[in-house]
Amino acid sequence: MIQRYLGNKTRYLEHLLTTFRAHAEEGAHVVDLFSGSLSVSLAMKEAGYRVSANDANLLSNIIGEAFLVPTGVPEADLALIPERARGACFREAQAVVLSERGFAVTRAAGQQHLATRLVALTLWLNMVEQSDLAPRYRRTDFFDTYTEEGKNSGYTSSRGRSGRRRFFSSSNGKRIDVALGQVRLWSRSGAISPPVEAYLLATLMRAVERVANTQGTFHDFPRETWDARALTPLRVEAASTDPMVSPVAGHRVGREEDSREFVKTVDPHAILYLDPPYNFRQYSAYYFLLNLVCRYPSITDLDDYFSKVTFVRGQNPEDDFTSSFCSSKMFLSDMGAVMRDAQADTVVVSYYTGANHWSKFNSDRNDTGLELLRGLMTGTMFEPESFTALEVERKNYASYGGYKARTVQELILVAKKRRQSGAARTVDGRVSEVA
Ligand SMILES: C[S@@+](CC[C@H](N)C(=O)[O-])C[C@H]1O[C@@H](n2cnc3c(N)ncnc32)[C@H](O)[C@@H]1O
Repeated sequence: MIQRYLGNKTRYLEHLLTTFRAHAEEGAHVVDLFSGSLSVSLAMKEAGYRVSANDANLLSNIIGEAFLVPTGVPEADLALIPERARGACFREAQAVVLSERGFAVTRAAGQQHLATRLVALTLWLNMVEQSDLAPRYRRTDFFDTYTEEGKNSGYTSSRGRSGRRRFFSSSNGKRIDVALGQVRLWSRSGAISPPVEAYLLATLMRAVERVANTQGTFHDFPRETWDARALTPLRVEAASTDPMVSPVAGHRVGREEDSREFVKTVDPHAILYLDPPYNFRQYSAYYFLLNLVCRYPSITDLDDYFSKVTFVRGQNPEDDFTSSFCSSKMFLSDMGAVMRDAQADTVVVSYYTGANHWSKFNSDRNDTGLELLRGLMTGTMFEPESFTALEVERKNYASYGGYKARTVQELILVAKKRRQSGAARTVDGRVSEVA
């Protein structure tokens, strides 16, 4: 759904699914504890599993509410679009839903009419003007805070350099404001249901990502230049509704919870999948602007919220989350804690040998992290001899800061947890007492 999420596992889905299938039957309950872009959770759902997901970033919850939790396309009210544009939005949506590949499952399930209405609301976000909104929803928060012309976009860096934020061109800043104003109005007046709101935010977030003046993450922006993508006009496009359609119900997504706590609330499961951060980079700072798009409709006092933005990037510090997995000191003990607290049969961990807590960009392969995880997953919590490490792919890592490109490996580590005494777990995650 979002395209440029650091560490997303889109390229490794086939290898991961083969691993999951070897340890969990269709219909089993599986858990993705660092779900990020939701690439793995949605692949698990498509493969027929019941999925519980969580991530500290709000964007993950919104993608989950839009595409993971539903079992069908939600009802959206076409009458929300003003009459002058309703026909045009409907016809364009219909053409998309009837012809594009991302709607084939939806069509086969007979849900194309629902999808057309949903997509029409999304397309309206490209046409809505401030004058269509009630006065209190006509705001300029993104223009003011994240474009050079904005009145609240000035910053002073910790080194004393000052400038103006330039995450967006002025015209795109204004478009984001009016589109978000529309979603906020619909949301706060109860005109749209939570899954419809989540779908609109997910499509808007994708559009914002495409025109952001960044190199993929939002902790900073090029101070002197513009990424060519940022100079193209913002356009909100339909997102495939096919991931929504599913015969398996009971999917769940946490909302910005710390997975160390979330895991304690999850019922027994066949697979616990862990893809934590392996270095100091805090995802809540790197993706704060996409989280803000998702949060915007639910912020009660926007003046107060935007008066508190700080840092060069312009983040409200109340939205910051410091992950213990980004600390080399806490990483291993917290990995051990979530493995211990999970009622899981099998633990699957994604690991890569690129720059991480134990090795740098310019160092040769260093397997310290791998060995520490191996130590954990061959310890007393796990069945003896059950540990495997699968090296799935070699790829050339882009050169960075003058360092030469080097080859890194993506690994999938698997181990079976020891059964708790007195209880046996069935493959779909149910626990039954043993005589
Ligand atoms: C490597 S990324 C996961 C990528 C994901 N598998 C994908 O395909 O997009 C690591 C994720 O862990 C999340 N995270 C870090 N610490 C967390 C914590 N304590 N609780 C929940 N999520 C956390 C980050 O927000 C980030 O999305």
